[in-house]
Amino acid sequence: MRTTRFRETYGPYALVAGGSYGLGAAFAEAIAQRGLNVVLLARQEDRLNATATRLRETYGVDVVTFVADVADYESVKERLNDLKVDIGLLVYDAAYAPIGRFEDVSEDQLVRATEVNVRAPLLLTKFLSAPMIERGRGGIVLMSSLAGSQGSPNIAAYAATKSFNAILAEGLWKELRPRGVDVLACMAGAILTPGYQEAESAKPAPGTLDAKVVAEQTLNALGKGPIVIPGAVNKIARFVLTRALSRRAAIAIMSKNTGGLS
Ligand SMILES: NC(=O)c1ccc[n+]([C@@H]2O[C@H](COP(=O)([O-])OP(=O)(O)OC[C@H]3O[C@@H](n4cnc5c(N)ncnc54)[C@H](OP(=O)(O)O)[C@@H]3O)[C@@H](O)[C@H]2O)c1
Repeated sequence: MRTTRFRETYGPYALVAGGSYGLGAAFAEAIAQRGLNVVLLARQEDRLNATATRLRETYGVDVVTFVADVADYESVKERLNDLKVDIGLLVYDAAYAPIGRFEDVSEDQLVRATEVNVRAPLLLTKFLSAPMIERGRGGIVLMSSLAGSQGSPNIAAYAATKSFNAILAEGLWKELRPRGVDVLACMAGAILTPGYQEAESAKPAPGTLDAKVVAEQTLNALGKGPIVIPGAVNKIARFVLTRALSRRAAIAIMSKNTGGLS
């Protein structure tokens, strides 16, 4: 989509929840490059400010920094109301992944995974889609993962939350399309981000992509369907995991990648 049309469809502001580094910063940059103003939300103020300054200086757009933990959805909603900016695009990128054997993961970690990966994207989608429906235009991008295509040992709860986002996006894609709102889930494979590099001690998995590539391919897919799978290797992996193999075999293959995570 050309820059002007992107801005007219999804402007004037985009909210990138989890937009200070990693994939979220790549989304924020690709969005600013397309001429939208950006609200950047994350917990660490210094990293937020660094990204905001870079985007303002490079693209000349307005960048609002929003220091918050998405797990505290009620406060995020209240403060978003106070901001009084029209958000035409939501990119929900923040995530929490309790990694390791299920018996070693605490209840608190599981609650946090549902707050950050399920409750906040669901309620933010509800909150921000209402004015989009009223305006008859807008976009919502929810970050899912190939790990959400089937059970994924050692990240079982995280993978289940990512599956939730993909299914939510599929339903809303069909429901909101006639109202002018494009909904899309990005089922990404491995992405070179600080979060991934911390979790993955071995060499990157096959098909690992740069965050910039994932952000570009995702934004280009907005309005074209409910799911995007960036990268050719990941498209093949998704086909094999969901169509060619039995569920049992798909889980066994995924286990080879995730079984060693700790
Ligand atoms: N990396 C991969 O290989 C991969 C693969 C498939 C899917 N994904 C998905 O892609 C998304 C991004 O992954 P990533 O690796 O880029 O993550 P990341 O590097 O860990 O960064 C996430 C961003 O979210 C912010 N954030 C994290 N928790 C937050 C919270 N509770 N409240 C507010 N902001 C928060 C971080 O800033 P602060 O720390 O300052 O809050 C940062 O800006 C996630 O949804 C993930 O599930 C990633």
